[in-house]
This record gives sequence, structure tokens and C-alpha cells, in this order.
Amino acid sequence: MENKNINEIYSLAMNEIQQSEDTNKLQELKIKFLAKKSVLSSLMSELANLPPEERKEFGKNLNDVRNRISEELAKKEAELRKNELDKKLKSETIDITLPSRKVELGGQNPFYVVKDEITDIFLNMGFEVADGPEVETDLFNFELLNIPKDHPARDMQDTFYISDNVLLRTHTSPVQAHVMQEANGKPIRIICPGKTYRRDDDDATHSHQFAQIEGLVIDKNINIGHLKATLELFAKKMFGEKREIRLRPSYFPFTEPSVEVDITCANCGGKGCSMCKGTGYIEILGGGMVHPNVLKMNGYDPDEYSGFAFGIGIERVAILRFGIDDIRRFYQNDVRFLHQYRRKA
Ligand code: DAH
Repeated sequence: MENKNINEIYSLAMNEIQQSEDTNKLQELKIKFLAKKSVLSSLMSELANLPPEERKEFGKNLNDVRNRISEELAKKEAELRKNELDKKLKSETIDITLPSRKVELGGQNPFYVVKDEITDIFLNMGFEVADGPEVETDLFNFELLNIPKDHPARDMQDTFYISDNVLLRTHTSPVQAHVMQEANGKPIRIICPGKTYRRDDDDATHSHQFAQIEGLVIDKNINIGHLKATLELFAKKMFGEKREIRLRPSYFPFTEPSVEVDITCANCGGKGCSMCKGTGYIEILGGGMVHPNVLKMNGYDPDEYSGFAFGIGIERVAILRFGIDDIRRFYQNDVRFLHQYRRKA
């Protein structure tokens, strides 16, 4: 009968130990099953009442059960302690990594912002982008543009000469001659953004190196209305829908007639202020109808074809667009200047 009791106590103990969820509970079970006043201990005191032949076996069983409960308690305790430690390690994790140093993103030079915008406006009108050399011959820079040797217009475009006939181009207009000669009499609709050079003393409004965007359209029946409409669309896209343009007669050897294009002053809306020197207008570019001599020299019959051309100063447009006070800022790479034109991601 006592053995039955021992087995019941054993199963009960194993069960409760298995179901324990923390070490405090195990402590209680230790007291319940193994301490002096535990059930097992009280069974031990019954040992004396048994007949001597049963005593040995009963005592052995009792000890066995004690040891097994004790082992099980120790095993469970180790298991629970490990779980508790794991839990603690997880909940008390500290992120000891340092955030990395911030890399400052630079700003895009407003020159390129404007160059890309102008290019996009013309690409959307169906123009293609052409390219040409910065080191030019006298032939392409001047003569094929109807500026023969000794022409007074050369005075305004002195430049850096590599030899008598090779020079850094003074404008992007020579690309007109290159494109015409390559197009073999086919219609043309191109722009050419690029660097240009002049022998100038650098100051707030002059730079020995600057950039232009040349435009050239050649086809049958092109007239000055096409030029005006194209440049009007450009001005509105670039400077805002409210801007008006005005064409003023001008002179360029490679166009006839030639015009200078003004936009209404953004500052006063055309009334006249210090920014537009009281005129209400600000000059933005030059253009005109391609001179018959230029068409002829570059392989087009002026009786069949006509065209218009224009030249835009990129820095000039950027200066007007962003209110920049000095053309040299574009080239100085001062990060304080460039940061003002950081594009939002
Ligand atoms: N090449 C001229 C300059 O640098 C600008 C220009 C004027 C270009 C009229 C043109 C044009 O194509 O038609 O001053």
C-alpha cells in the first residue's frame, strides 16, 4: 500500500515539476516533496512500523524516488534558468553600434539645372541635340557664318588662338555649319549646348569661358513667325506663363533679319524698375532668319530652303532665373553657393 503511495507521489511530483513555469515554483515543489515536513519524509517515518523484511525494499524505493525527484528538479531548474537568461538577454539588448557619419549631398550647379531645363524644353518641341568641337577653325567659327576676314563683327569676338587659323570657338554658331554640311540638304531641327570662349577680362558679368545653346531649324517655308512662336514658348516655359516677349531688330552677320529677344521684367512686370533699367524688358537671346549666304555656303539652296537660328547664353538665363549676382559663382565651386540649389530628392 505504501509503494502505491510512493508511486502516486512520484507521478504527482513529476507532473508538477514539468508544469512549472519559473524557478520560484520549483522552490515550492522542492519544499513540498523533499523538505523535512514533506510527504516523502513523513513516509520515511513510517519505515519503523513496517515488518523488517519489507523495510529494506520500501526504504530503497523511497530513496530512489527522492533521488529522481531531486534530479528532475535540478534538470528543470537548469532549463528554466537558461530560458530566463535568454529572455533577459533578449529584452535587455543594447544597440552599441554608432550611427555612421552623415554624407552631405552636394547641390547641382544651377548652371546645369538650367542647361538641362532649356534642353528639355526644346526636346519636347521636337529638337535633337547636336554636338561640335570647342577647338574650331577660322573657317567654321567665322567664314562659313558670313564673317569674312577683316569683318568688323570679329572685333567683338576675340578669343584664344592656337594658331592663325585654329581657335577656341567664340560661340556655338559654328555647329550650325557642321550640322548643315552633314545633313546633305535635308531638313534640320537641332539645338547644341556647349562651352564657348572669348578674350574678356573676368568680372561680375564677363567670363572668358561661358556657355551657349545654339538652335537651328531649316526646312521649306520657314518664316520669322516660326522663330517667334518657338522662342515665345521657350520663354514662357522657362520664365513663367505670364512673361511676354518682344523682338527688337538687331544685327548678326549670319542672320537676316536679325533680332534680339527680350522678356518682360519679372521684378516689375513690365512697368520699369532698376532691374530692367526702366525699360520693362530684359534681353535674353539673339536670333534671326538664317542668312542666304550661310545657307548657300553650307549646301542649301536659299530659293528652296529657309531657316531660323538663335543663340541663348546659359549663364545669362540662370542668372535671371535664380537672381545670381555674379557669373563667376558658376565656376568657383563654393559649396555654400551650390547648397542653395540642392534638388529635393
Ligand atoms: N552667336 C551669337 C553670339 O554669340 C548669338 C546668336 C545670335 C546665335 C543670333 C544665333 C543667332 O544663332 O541667330 O553673340
